[in-house]
Amino acid sequence: MLTGKRILLIVTGGIAAYKTPDLVRRLRERGAAVRCVLTEGGARFVTPLSLSAVSGDKVYRDLFDLTDEQEMGHIQLSRDADVILVAPASADVLAKMAHGLATDLATTALLATDKPVIVAPAMNVRMWEHAATRANLRTLMDRGVTVIGPEDGDMACGEFGPGRMTEPLDIVAAVVAFFHGGRPLAGRHALVTSGPTHEPIDPVRYIANRSSGKQGHAIATALAALGARVTLVTGPVALKDPPGVATVHVETARDMLAACLEALPADIAVCAAAVADWRAADTAPEKMKKDGGPLSALALAENPDILAALAQPGPDRPALVVGFAAETETVVAHARAKLKKKGCDWICANDVSPETGTFGGDMNRVHLVTADGIEASEVEDWPALTKAQVGEKLARRIARHLAPAAAEDAGSSAE
Ligand code: CTP
Repeated sequence: MLTGKRILLIVTGGIAAYKTPDLVRRLRERGAAVRCVLTEGGARFVTPLSLSAVSGDKVYRDLFDLTDEQEMGHIQLSRDADVILVAPASADVLAKMAHGLATDLATTALLATDKPVIVAPAMNVRMWEHAATRANLRTLMDRGVTVIGPEDGDMACGEFGPGRMTEPLDIVAAVVAFFHGGRPLAGRHALVTSGPTHEPIDPVRYIANRSSGKQGHAIATALAALGARVTLVTGPVALKDPPGVATVHVETARDMLAACLEALPADIAVCAAAVADWRAADTAPEKMKKDGGPLSALALAENPDILAALAQPGPDRPALVVGFAAETETVVAHARAKLKKKGCDWICANDVSPETGTFGGDMNRVHLVTADGIEASEVEDWPALTKAQVGEKLARRIARHLAPAAAEDAGSSAE
């Protein structure tokens, strides 16, 4: 699977560096030749001897070491590789890469290369979430760097959250996918809606719902990871904009519809937003005052249906329009009816009854209803997955539908 591929593995400082001998072994098992560069920080967590033993090669460490430079200069190191893999990639190396600093052998090789670069970040959750790291990552992704992970989990520093390096086997899978055209949606534009909408009643009050936006944001992230250019139109959420995704922030359903129409044409539309069905028919210009009695007249007007609008036949209709059905009972039957009513191609039906914890939670259980002739519409029952996994599975399923050959090359067919 990786036969004949030459990988330059750069190991930077972080506790996850201890996993890199396993990573090297797994890459070599699949036929890759691996050459390692170990930074000073990396050498605090893994010894050059163990990396050299598993890679079967010398480990390169010093920019100014005459032996290193004579045998294999930094230019040659990157020239001799098909891909550069930075794992673990510390916040520091990401910052240096984003800003073009070349302060040691690793960063010099990274600046001198014209080869594809894959990074597997690993750091403390606060460092990962810091605006500087987010901006650096966005810069790197815009330059075509592939980012794997990090994963959520307990961290060595005692905190929980995103920042843990992706496990070696998953990094290997991502490297394999990379070599086998792991971007089956390259050249496609995907439009994703996410989050709730807020519908003002007066200057301080609004109608809203409990949607967190986690599912829509995860779908946008996963589609981007498969190479799609993604526009995410999101209502107010407490989430960060996904890196590498053009994010448009809106408040009301009508703003969301306008932003979606503005983003067309698109090849794919996934409507995961929990759009408020109604808005206040008249927004009070001033804060409404209590007068001791009940509020008897709050007239509501129906909001435009964004999914139905995007699914309408016409020259701008995306090739694949996917909706969500948040139901609390007879989930699949309602989803079938919704598919027909809205005119979309697929519905991801999910049970949001309070006991499932779907709304606002991290897990989701999806039944994918596809409209291959509605009477014969097929249903795929997915297991309970994290919302990130649902995003990835849906993105791979979309890739398989729109670009079957590319998806197969990318190893996405084994769904
Ligand atoms: N949707 C939308 N615009 C709306 C309402 C819903 O785009 N104004 C989309 C959602 O993003 C989702 C799908 O439609 O993909 C299903 O939403 P839902 O609110 O369940 O649809 P309804 O027809 O309102 O269903 P029900 O009548 O069962 O509430």
